[in-house]
Amino acid sequence: MSIGENNLQGLNGGQRLAVKYFVVALALFGAQLLFGLLAGLQYLKPDLLYGVLDFSVNRMVHINAMVVWMLYGFIGSVYWLLEDESGTNVVGLKLGNLAFWVLTAAVGVVVLVYLFVQIGPGTDTTLWLINEGREYIEAPRWADIGIVACVLIFFFNVAATFMKGRWSGIAGVLVLDLVALAGLYLAGMFYTTNVSVDQYWWWWVIHLWVEATWEVLVGCIMAWGLIQTLGAKRRIVQTWLYIEVALMFGSGILGLGHHYFWIGTPEYWLTIGGFFSALEPVPLVAMVVHAVYDAGSHGFRSSNHPALAWLIAHAFGNFFGAGVWGFMHTLPQINLYTHGTQWSASHGHLAFFGAYATINIAVFYIAVQGARGGVWMSAHLPGNGWKWKWALALLNVGVVGMTVALLIAGYEQSFVERAIEGSTWAGYFAGQNHPWFLQAMHWRMIFGWVTLLGFALLVWDLFTIGAGETREARDVHPGEAATA
Ligand code: HEM
Ligand code: HEM
Ligand SMILES: [Fe+2]
Repeated sequence: MSIGENNLQGLNGGQRLAVKYFVVALALFGAQLLFGLLAGLQYLKPDLLYGVLDFSVNRMVHINAMVVWMLYGFIGSVYWLLEDESGTNVVGLKLGNLAFWVLTAAVGVVVLVYLFVQIGPGTDTTLWLINEGREYIEAPRWADIGIVACVLIFFFNVAATFMKGRWSGIAGVLVLDLVALAGLYLAGMFYTTNVSVDQYWWWWVIHLWVEATWEVLVGCIMAWGLIQTLGAKRRIVQTWLYIEVALMFGSGILGLGHHYFWIGTPEYWLTIGGFFSALEPVPLVAMVVHAVYDAGSHGFRSSNHPALAWLIAHAFGNFFGAGVWGFMHTLPQINLYTHGTQWSASHGHLAFFGAYATINIAVFYIAVQGARGGVWMSAHLPGNGWKWKWALALLNVGVVGMTVALLIAGYEQSFVERAIEGSTWAGYFAGQNHPWFLQAMHWRMIFGWVTLLGFALLVWDLFTIGAGETREARDVHPGEAATA
């Protein structure tokens, strides 16, 4: 395959399918940011687009686009590594392609309905055709069923391909994790009229996804990514992976209790949720140690500098966003004051970005390198690689800046509205109108624009890096057969 030119034909079938997923993921990432900015502007100017595109709609599109682009990124990542890892062709590639188009068409229709129909009466028709009303997974029932069908095809492809080819430790963990991930989605699909019961099951999807199954999934991608970009030893990364998975499930599953403090569930959840979720940062520390250990033991000699930088950003972002920012408000004694304030939004932004946006971007860079025929992406890139470095810096500074602004707002809300005013109606408005809150909302916007700028640079870089490069990628697997 020729070096430095776009050469999708040189990729294997799974990788070509992955590229499609990545392109849609990037488009939805852009949409996420635009709708986030709109929702943020509406905090400052509540009249903006009122009655046309309300805050509730923009917020919904913002977070749904996020969940979907990350799922696209993950599915793409697994297809990207599938043939190399299994040593054989994807079993049902045609079916996989069909599922991609069906899923993408469904996502398109859902977004159009969100934007143009928006709401309906509280009936079954609304539930089936417009919106299910469950935060993050608002997609109407027909789309739910379509999503499940497409995910099952994906799962079949992954499991059957490993069965036909060879299994590895990473493959085993990955397949078991996908069973859990797909299964949990079902918990968010049935409807009850009791809000407590509804929330009880809904959290099975939301919490058990991001704090158990997605974490294990990115653990697999990280393990594979370290082998790819650093030439890390498989024996070592797999051992780490097993330890991390055990710790993650050990703390994350019952950590679910931190969402059962105040929704009408029995009181024992205060103890269970507080205790187990306080342990959740432990595997995240292990992941940082793992990544830094591996990068260090190879003297940071990597075949793909942008990807390695984003993998390291993932290790730290996961630890701070999920581990530290999560821990801050996870004890019931503290959550009593912080629950549902901007504190949660602060944690939500840093955790989703730090844990999941980062690792997806790392795989995008690995894919670009492959799509250009395996070009050099280590030191001494043209222009000293300023685009990827600035994209990395601006995106991280943007999100951290928003996080800090929201944390200040959340701190102020907990203090003024909850602690001083005792959670009264008047206290709510005192909290909302406090100068610290108002200023924080402006700072969130400023850093939001920085984030957008970083994203624009990222897209530009992904479409240009490696073009015209004639050097081959640094070999990080000396003595072994090249794998990608
Ligand atoms: C990557 C992993 C994680 C992600 C993506 C994440 C994301 C989020 C998001 C978006 C929310 C707000 C949910 C809502 O809309 O109500 C939330 C809430 C929460 N998270 Fe996390 N989280 C992660 C890990 C953690 C960890 C490890 C902990 C504890 C150590 C934690 C503790 C909490 C708590 C206590 C709440 C409830 C906040 C409230 O009472 O309003 N999270 N998380
Ligand atoms: C362009 C920058 C962004 C802006 C201006 C922005 C703005 C917003 C706004 C206004 C909300 C609604 C908050 C509320 O209900 O009070 C929100 C929610 C949320 N955003 Fe963003 N956002 C941006 C980027 C991001 C990124 C990069 C991520 C993660 C990858 C993200 C993840 C989330 C999550 C998880 C929520 C729900 C939080 C919760 O339920 O507490 N946002 N965002
Ligand atoms: Fe949680």
